[in-house]
Amino acid sequence: MAVTTQQLIQWKQQGRPIVALTAWDYAIAQVLDAAGVDVILVGDSLAMVALGYETTLPVTLDEMIHHAKAVRRAVKQALVVCDLPFLSYQESLQQAMHSAGRVLKESGAQAVKLEGGYPVMAQTVSHLVQAGIPVLGHVGLTPQSVHKLGYRQQGKSPEAGERILQEAIALEEAGAFAVVLEHIPSELALQITQKLTIPTIGIGAGLHCDGQVLVTADMLGLSHKQPPFAKSYVDLREAIAQAVQSYGNEVRERKFPDS
Ligand code: KIV
Repeated sequence: MAVTTQQLIQWKQQGRPIVALTAWDYAIAQVLDAAGVDVILVGDSLAMVALGYETTLPVTLDEMIHHAKAVRRAVKQALVVCDLPFLSYQESLQQAMHSAGRVLKESGAQAVKLEGGYPVMAQTVSHLVQAGIPVLGHVGLTPQSVHKLGYRQQGKSPEAGERILQEAIALEEAGAFAVVLEHIPSELALQITQKLTIPTIGIGAGLHCDGQVLVTADMLGLSHKQPPFAKSYVDLREAIAQAVQSYGNEVRERKFPDS
């Protein structure tokens, strides 16, 4: 059965961890879906891992929709969530509604993700949810604010931790179906996870979240640089380089194609 936002909340209640990964094209999304990933996020990290930008800021709404369409065509089971990119929702409630509406209508993704919490983003989330658009929140390290926060761990002081907790609570009250917790101390992630009735999905936030997400390029060893909390389960850069060298050698030695 296809994964729904309600299913994720039930899984939290049952203590069943949620498996999430990012995808940016048809082939990757098909493999992830067939392998049983619960949530496939068309993350704006695709700006870096698929388009070669230094940060997530340059990617446009049209580009996100283009990638989300390809992912959506591949996915049969997982819940597909698409990031709203930088400055496609921060200007006004109207802008957020227009952008989120376009994502759902044009790409077929079932939900959007946006960064930030209390007070402004909670209001935006509430506005979208009331219009029937499911929203995944994202607090802690929010890469769209890289020029303000850097890529440092967030929530280290008691005051900063309290602020992130309040942001997560505000997102739940606004109707978000889950919240991504990025690069925060694991004790803070545990506190937020225990406080919320909606699931927390961690990335660099320790073991205690209701689910985990990684950028798939990092997990597959495809990224040329990756955050300290990422784990590669395979070195695909090396595997691809070896395959390409073998092919090149066989072409040069006239061994491929065979007779
Ligand atoms: O864009 C992305 O890939 C993300 C994940 C890091 C959660 O937002």
